[in-house]
Amino acid sequence: LELKEIYAPVSEELQQVTTMLRSVGNDVENPWLAEQLKYIIEGSGKIIRPALVLFSGKIFDSPLDRLLPMAVAVELMHTATLIHDDAIDKADTRRGRATINSLWGNEIAILMGDYLFARAGVYSTESNTVRAIRLFSETLSIIASGEISQFRGAYNLNQSREEYFRRIYRKTGSLFSLSTQSGAIIGGAEEEHIAIMREYGENCGIAFQIVDDIMDFTSTPEKLGKPVGSDLRQGTLTLPAMMVLERYPDNNPVRKLFETKDESYSSAALDIILNSSIIPDCYAVATEFRDRGCNKLSILPKNSYRRSLEALGEFIINQGR
Ligand code: IPE
Ligand code: IPE
Ligand code: MG
Ligand code: MG
Repeated sequence: LELKEIYAPVSEELQQVTTMLRSVGNDVENPWLAEQLKYIIEGSGKIIRPALVLFSGKIFDSPLDRLLPMAVAVELMHTATLIHDDAIDKADTRRGRATINSLWGNEIAILMGDYLFARAGVYSTESNTVRAIRLFSETLSIIASGEISQFRGAYNLNQSREEYFRRIYRKTGSLFSLSTQSGAIIGGAEEEHIAIMREYGENCGIAFQIVDDIMDFTSTPEKLGKPVGSDLRQGTLTLPAMMVLERYPDNNPVRKLFETKDESYSSAALDIILNSSIIPDCYAVATEFRDRGCNKLSILPKNSYRRSLEALGEFIINQGR
């Protein structure tokens, strides 16, 4: 299924979210800032996280006036993390457009990210649900700690798979989990059901990041609207590169690349990754996480929202294939 079909049960609500997002630049005192906010919001992505808030909220009959601001909040938080991430990664493009850091420098990217985090926080309060607001703040600290681990662990060859899964849970799984949990929390769902939504978000978020890490090797800037090959360039050890390390004890190009920081080794690493079973094996790992995430959805009422969550799990795994 295409995203559009998966989103169909919440298409009207998502439209409202988009309208609210577009209004973020309205009534902003500084006209230059207002213009930049419009630029950032116009280049919208897949809006997966707001969709997750809506599916989860709809399953548990959450009132829309509390749900919509949380959907806006998670997308603004996501957008802010991307602005900071692009500055850290020195990336020139995002969503097929020039990044804030490439247009205006790192200083503005830092400030713009901060600005959006703060606006996101205010939207989260309109959920009128302290537990969801608390989770929102906790999630932001978890994401930041994940990015710090990634940065501090750059070029470190001694990282286990467990450490990798933990890191991508923090940087990506946690925000998926905020999205799926907050809808349920706002609706006053039972603890058992909130836990099901958390497991879906965490595991599908990890699967999503594994597939993103795969596509960094297999895709093109045209398809992704952002640079490829940047993980190895930054010394970020992701699952495909980890499998190269595990399987080729002698003369290993990833090891050499990390030890020397000589980027000429990256083509040999890419060669191995593309001409072995590594990519299908990585998809299999992502699929395991996805399955773990979707496992208990069957306990929930069978309706179009639940079906969309299942279909989204499928979509995540099929990206880039
Ligand atoms: C990109 O997320 C960052 C990752 C967690 C891999 P998305 O792929 O959801 O980005 P947009 O919002 O659609 O651009
Ligand atoms: C996701 O990781 C970034 C955040 C969670 C902030 P990536 O660094 O892989 O994201 P892309 O590939 O730049 O979108
Ligand atoms: Mg990045
Ligand atoms: Mg990436």
